[in-house]
Formats: sequence, structure tokens, C-alpha cells
Amino acid sequence: MDDEPDRTAAKAGELFSEARSVEVVAASFASTPDPRLRRVIVSLVRHLHEFIKDVQLTRAEWETAIRYLTETGRLCTDTRQEFILLSDVLGASMLVETINNRSDGVLTETTVEGPFHMVDSPPRELGARICGAAEGDPCLVEGTVTDAHGRPLPGASVDVWQADADGSYDVQQPDLAAEDNLRGLFTTDEQGRFWFRTIVPRYYPIPSDGTVGTLLQATSRHPNRPAHIHFEVSAPGMRTVTTHLFVDGSPYLDSDAVFGVKESLVREFPTIDDPARAAESGMPNPFRTVEFAVVLDRASA
Ligand code: BEZ
Ligand code: FE
Repeated sequence: MDDEPDRTAAKAGELFSEARSVEVVAASFASTPDPRLRRVIVSLVRHLHEFIKDVQLTRAEWETAIRYLTETGRLCTDTRQEFILLSDVLGASMLVETINNRSDGVLTETTVEGPFHMVDSPPRELGARICGAAEGDPCLVEGTVTDAHGRPLPGASVDVWQADADGSYDVQQPDLAAEDNLRGLFTTDEQGRFWFRTIVPRYYPIPSDGTVGTLLQATSRHPNRPAHIHFEVSAPGMRTVTTHLFVDGSPYLDSDAVFGVKESLVREFPTIDDPARAAESGMPNPFRTVEFAVVLDRASA
């Protein structure tokens, strides 16, 4: 039988070896004053070394990884964050999001923010059309913002942004779409309600002309996200929720490139054929509709 590996703390002056690499390197961080930083860095060293040993990483593979990360950093600018995109396709963003926003089945679940919330949404009146001249299936979005006990939150901010019916965001087509197209910042009324008029978005590919695209291609993964509308909902004294509503029936709901789909966020967008209701809500007939009851948690002290 193999001897158990020696996991005792490294002694002062102990030299680096394959068998004891974790203990020797961890010991070099033993005097880190911040206990949280010490815990994080020592765990990182342990997992990194175990990974290198697990795959028996070659020198050439290590060099490829360094070149890949260098190029990923080179692609980052004020308007592009290739490292976050890499974290997204590795599922790391969703894991951090999920660990830090555990839902009890009552609170609205969160998902990734994504890179297209890069411009401020224009403040708009309740009921406004956010889609300008964009063509697509007209859609009435209606919702409420409440606390976990169902108490309405008047004056809550509801920031929305979405792709168009071809799957493009305004910032991706500056020559075709105004910068505030398919975006809006709404304030809930006295009953905590919000509503606005838009079009149903389409699924779309995440940016794949950089290192993330190279990874997806090399691993035979597609770059697509299912159709969704982004929401960032905030209210004084409450925890801000960054989330999406996903369009039921959209392609890629079961294979989102960034793992953002949660069952509780998928909604049917049924078609309403009712001329009176259309006229009352300023919609053409027929129109699609969706409802979103957002439930916020109290902010911790
Ligand atoms: C988005 O939904 O806008 C998005 C999220 C993560 C990566 C790329 C795009
Ligand atoms: Fe999106």
C-alpha cells in the first residue's frame, strides 16, 4: 500500500519538492496579516498545485496558458472585459453569483450582469416604449416590486436592457441604433408596479472574436445565450437584484453559453388577441405579454 502523503506544515527552510509543493508554498504565505487573504491564497495554491499534478501539465501547455491569459488581458479595454467573459463561460461568474445570492424560493433569483450594461439607461415614464423604431413582436412587460412579505416597494428603480429581435444590443450597432434603444430606467408607482412596452428579444451569441471564442471553438461549444430581458432592481434599504427574464421556448435555454438560466426566471410570453385590452395599454393587436413579480431581500446592516 502507498504511504499516506505527508500533509504536515512545512518546516522552516524546507526545500520545494513535488510531493510537498503545497505545504512548502502555503508556508510562505503563513504570515499574511489579513486572515481572509491568507485563507484564499493558500486554498488557491492547493487547488492550483493539485490541478497541475492531476493533468501532469507539460511545459508547452503552461506556456500556452500564459500566452492565452496575456492575450486575454490585452483584449480588455474600458468597454470590453475578456476576463469576465472567460469567467462567464467557465461557469465561475454564475457560481459566485449563486453562492452570494442563495434564494429561499421566495426572493427573486439573480444571474450574470453581462457586458452590455455599459451605458446608463435613460429614465422613462411608466408605460413608455423602449424600442424606438426596432421591429419585432410587440410586448407589454408588467411587474411589481415587493419585499419578501409581499409589501409593495413604491419608488423602486427598475433598470432594463435587452437585445432586439435580431439578437443585437444598441451598443453593438452604433450606426443603426440610438444608444438608449431597448433600455429604460423606471420608477415603481405607489403600489410598487412598473410596466413598459417593448419587443420580444431574440437569442444571440456572446462576443466570440477573442480568446473566449478561441476556447469555445477548440472545445466544440456554441456561443449562444437564450432570449432574455435584463433587469437590475433596487430600492432603499433593500438588496439590489441583477437578473433576467428568459423567454420560454427560446433556443439554448438548456445550453446557455454562460450558464445563466434558472428555472424560476423562465416565463411564457403569451400572445393576447384582445383589441380592447390592446387599446387600453397602447399596444397594437395582437401583442405578447409577460409578468414579473420581483421580490427583494432586506439589505444586511
Ligand atoms: C448578456 O446577457 O448580455 C451576456 C452575459 C454574459 C456574457 C455575455 C453577454
Ligand atoms: Fe444579454
